[in-house]
Amino acid sequence: MATCPTQEITDEVVFDYWQNKASEKGIDRTATIRDHHYHRLEIATIKRYLRSTDNCLDIGCGNGIATIDYAESVDSIIGADYSPGMIEAAQQRLPHKPQSCSELSFQVADARDLPFEDEQFSRVIMERCLINIPDRDQQVQAALEAARTLKSGELFLLAEVTLQGHEKVNKHRLMHGLEKLKVHWHNTYVDEPAFVDAVSERLELVETIRFGMYGFISKVLHPLMVAPQEPSFDAKINEVAAEMALKMPDFDGCSHQVLFVFRKK
Ligand SMILES: C[S@@+](CC[C@H](N)C(=O)[O-])C[C@H]1O[C@@H](n2cnc3c(N)ncnc32)[C@H](O)[C@@H]1O
Repeated sequence: MATCPTQEITDEVVFDYWQNKASEKGIDRTATIRDHHYHRLEIATIKRYLRSTDNCLDIGCGNGIATIDYAESVDSIIGADYSPGMIEAAQQRLPHKPQSCSELSFQVADARDLPFEDEQFSRVIMERCLINIPDRDQQVQAALEAARTLKSGELFLLAEVTLQGHEKVNKHRLMHGLEKLKVHWHNTYVDEPAFVDAVSERLELVETIRFGMYGFISKVLHPLMVAPQEPSFDAKINEVAAEMALKMPDFDGCSHQVLFVFRKK
């Protein structure tokens, strides 16, 4: 993972990072994550929780690559992101709205202060957005803000990188003689127990999905097979790992990413 050890992580630095990514990459699928096989797995897993009648909010939607996919499964969807560059890129997808989706739109909005009504949505999705908020209290604030916009009894689908997931991957890497992976320099990984406890007044955790099958193959087995070369995100083995993980997601929690399925109380 890329590191930038000299720079302090502030809101401004992270915001600039995403604005730069948007102008560099536009609608390219690597603008928001380089591991596109994992991204497909994450999207396919989230889609299992969507219904054709849902009106949905996708917070931190980036260039809309996942939002347009979710649009196939729901009645309406809004993608929101604080980066105007990302939203400009996402809007290029509007002509590709699936016919089955009655409304698709993208707008600039900050996850910590959303311009939507209380209980407006029947599904809220957030993929790897909280880890871009450097302050853990603000991560909680953003999750509670997402919950505010969700109808009672409905689902908040939150896919994040967690400290505990990161440690589990590194434990497996060390066991097999690989170096530890570093935290991506602009990210603040979610601390699972503290986070789940802090949102528990409004959000009940009903399921935790770990992608350990994909994590073990892509972050341990694949690197061992190609060492001393660096593994490539495009490798066929990652594609196969993602397919396997759709049927059998976990292997010993060996995954940076976790999908939390919360129900609004
Ligand atoms: C890792 S990308 C994921 C994008 C998208 N969810 C996906 O899966 O392709 C994180 C996105 O969150 C956005 N973001 C970060 N902090 C945010 C905030 N406070 N409010 C709204 N968007 C934010 C970034 O601009 C970026 O587009």
